[in-house]
Amino acid sequence: MKNLFSVLRSDDVADDLVRVIETIVDASKEIAFLVRQGALAGVLGSTQDENIQGETQKQLDVISNQLLKDLLLANSAVAAIASEEEDTVVAGNAAGKYLVAFDPLDGSSNIDINGQIGTIFSIYRVLDGIAHGSEEQFKQKGAQQVCAGYELYGPSTLLVITTGKGTHCFTLDSTQGNFLLTAGHIRIAQDTQEFAINMSNARFWNDNMRSYIDDLILGETGARGKRYNMRWNAAMVGDVHRVMTRGGIFLYPSDNRNAKQPAKLRLLYEANPMAMLIENAGGKACSETQRILDIQPTQLHERVAVILGSANEVSECLGYLQ
Ligand code: AHG
Ligand code: MN
Ligand code: MN
Repeated sequence: MKNLFSVLRSDDVADDLVRVIETIVDASKEIAFLVRQGALAGVLGSTQDENIQGETQKQLDVISNQLLKDLLLANSAVAAIASEEEDTVVAGNAAGKYLVAFDPLDGSSNIDINGQIGTIFSIYRVLDGIAHGSEEQFKQKGAQQVCAGYELYGPSTLLVITTGKGTHCFTLDSTQGNFLLTAGHIRIAQDTQEFAINMSNARFWNDNMRSYIDDLILGETGARGKRYNMRWNAAMVGDVHRVMTRGGIFLYPSDNRNAKQPAKLRLLYEANPMAMLIENAGGKACSETQRILDIQPTQLHERVAVILGSANEVSECLGYLQ
């Protein structure tokens, strides 16, 4: 079986970028170990603190963030990091060529129930002529990412990664500590009969989104003429991984629960990396109005509606939203 580094070499990934990926992978192996140990490692439960997103931090959010932050800032190729758990950008080596944005622990509500959780990351090149360590460095379109990936801490620990030449899945061999290729060049089915959405928000969606989901629920008796099944993990990594594996559509639409915050998922740490992975596997990833990877970020912690997965189903959904 090929390991991660032989695949990165055959995808012609530059040595210094490989070193950044290696650092992320090293941090995630430590997180995976702590997740497996769970209560025995004392990592479950909440802290007293709130993050910049206005959410109470879980212990594992803080620990995972610190591991990634410490290891990445010690890597001379890393110019700066941005994290869902950090108020602002943290500067690294001024001579570094890469920027790393990450959601250190996705699916925090699953930590204490022994459910699926993960880490999501995104790598950009430093922009010339923009101050070192500034937020402006990170205001790049998702299309500029040079690498995106997630680790899924499930029954197995998986790494799903792309550098723009296909999306590959590796499984952590915990006997050796290596990620081994278990699904190369993933292709997401174009059509699907499975959707993932938090149905409890239905009354807060706009009418068009409600009528799309209504038609899925009507199944063979409605406009879509086929029966759909619904799955919801409450962890984007788990839901997106199901889409990667067997097709499907994942949605976190905008809603009117909170006028100040119409969307939930974060563009830099969640939507962009997942969009790059999905597109490199032949799927489609859009907000309600445009391709996610074409969005020009205006704020570091910007949020965006997300509709991604099987290409034909995403197009069907967008048809309802016009
Ligand atoms: P995080 O744990 O990083 O804050 O992200 C949670 C996100 C995402 O993973 C998931 O799809 C969604 O929030 C779940 O939200 P609900 O509370 O609506 O289930
Ligand atoms: Mn998240
Ligand atoms: Mn998170």
